[in-house]
Amino acid sequence: MERPLTQYIQANKPPMNLSEYEKVGGYKALHKALKEMKPQEVQKLVLDSNLKGRGGAGFSTGTKWSLIPMGENAPAEKYFICNADEMEPGTFKDRLLLEGNPHQLIEGIIISAYAIQANKGFIFLRWAYKKAADVILKSISEAYSAGYIGNNILGTGFNFNLYLHRSVGRYICGEETALLNALEGKRAIPRAKPPYPNISGLFGKPTTMNSVETLSFIPHIVNNGATWFKDLSITGEGGTKIYGVSGKVKNPGAWELPLGTTIREIIFEHAGGMKNGFTLKGFLPGGASTDFLTEEHLDVNMDYASLGKVGSRLGTGTMIILDDKTCPVGMVHNLEHFFAQESCGWCTPCREGLPWVEKILFSLEEGTGRMEDIDLLLFHAKHLAPGRTFCALAPGAVEPLQSSLKYFRDDYIKHIHDKRCPWR
Ligand SMILES: Cc1cc2nc3c(=O)[nH]c(=O)nc-3n(C[C@H](O)[C@H](O)[C@H](O)COP(=O)(O)O)c2cc1C
Ligand code: SF4
Repeated sequence: MERPLTQYIQANKPPMNLSEYEKVGGYKALHKALKEMKPQEVQKLVLDSNLKGRGGAGFSTGTKWSLIPMGENAPAEKYFICNADEMEPGTFKDRLLLEGNPHQLIEGIIISAYAIQANKGFIFLRWAYKKAADVILKSISEAYSAGYIGNNILGTGFNFNLYLHRSVGRYICGEETALLNALEGKRAIPRAKPPYPNISGLFGKPTTMNSVETLSFIPHIVNNGATWFKDLSITGEGGTKIYGVSGKVKNPGAWELPLGTTIREIIFEHAGGMKNGFTLKGFLPGGASTDFLTEEHLDVNMDYASLGKVGSRLGTGTMIILDDKTCPVGMVHNLEHFFAQESCGWCTPCREGLPWVEKILFSLEEGTGRMEDIDLLLFHAKHLAPGRTFCALAPGAVEPLQSSLKYFRDDYIKHIHDKRCPWR
């Protein structure tokens, strides 16, 4: 089984430095793209590969790149941004790539910038990733010394400068347009769209943004082609995926597997199944802001279309397990506490609704909940749905809430009848 992204990443080993990366073919793709391909040819290759953004929304990367103005009449200044904010609870896949193979990401960013003809780029990094910051800074400096970043890269006339920006540490900074505001030194609130960032992004210039996992694929697609990439996946959606599992499993962690691997294989083979004494009750398949699924969904393929059909999302592809010894209401309360705290406060339904949801869940856990609270929670889930708020934070926040009311309703009712949390 091919694992292009993680083949050279080993636990507890230092990241590859530049010469180690070059020894295994690193920066060959950069030579190929800059010397043998036109920018639009790189765009077309990525479009044909069917690569979908791994940051959560699953938008086609090639399509996104094709929306950037190109040619003589395009603005001279354009930006390419790598979103390395990774603050989704339960998600830790980008950290593996940032700390494990930084040059793979940097090579991916330079090729992507070339594809849209951007001369300046930023890696927007989660504030807590201090080790990754050191690794990335050292690797950027190595890439400058080797002439892979800077002016006239590889003698081709292409200029590109890359900077590391460390976030101040709010979840909303990971949202594309809030990130742009944060980079500009403004309050990190999402922007109204249109105009979309491809037309007016960072400092009003055309900007493209992709996540760490998405960009780390680019050198491999350039080296091996679109068909190779498509064939890596089980269900035809293209590529591999870094899946993760956290919770009461024997072997929590992250593994690169073909996109479309079944949930059963991920939990029971790679994560080793449930720890002794714990039974699987449910799981959030793609990070904290996706809908719960249960045992009946174990044979579903972990890909965009299959998870959509059963009412959830691939999200970041990192699962959080709910076991039988953990209260589902308590778990959802914990998540909603995070989302309420991280609401940027820009729009009323989210600013007022999420703290209200959190309060109701707290009262249910404390044994003071009422039967009407179930309907009230459903009311909030409805009014925080997509299209009702300014950005996707609130709709994502209510996904675990609404699905817990669907699958674990009896547990909510037991809290109300018994006037206490049955797990305490
Ligand atoms: C609240 C919120 C937080 C987000 N956090 C991240 C993040 O940490 N990393 C990321 O790549 N995308 C994050 N996204 C998605 C980005 O807005 C954007 O879709 C993504 O960076 C695009 O990259 P991709 O096309 O490679 O997936 C977040 C979205 C929302 C609404
Ligand atoms: S949905 Fe929440 S996080 Fe998004 S803009 Fe509105 S208040 Fe801010």
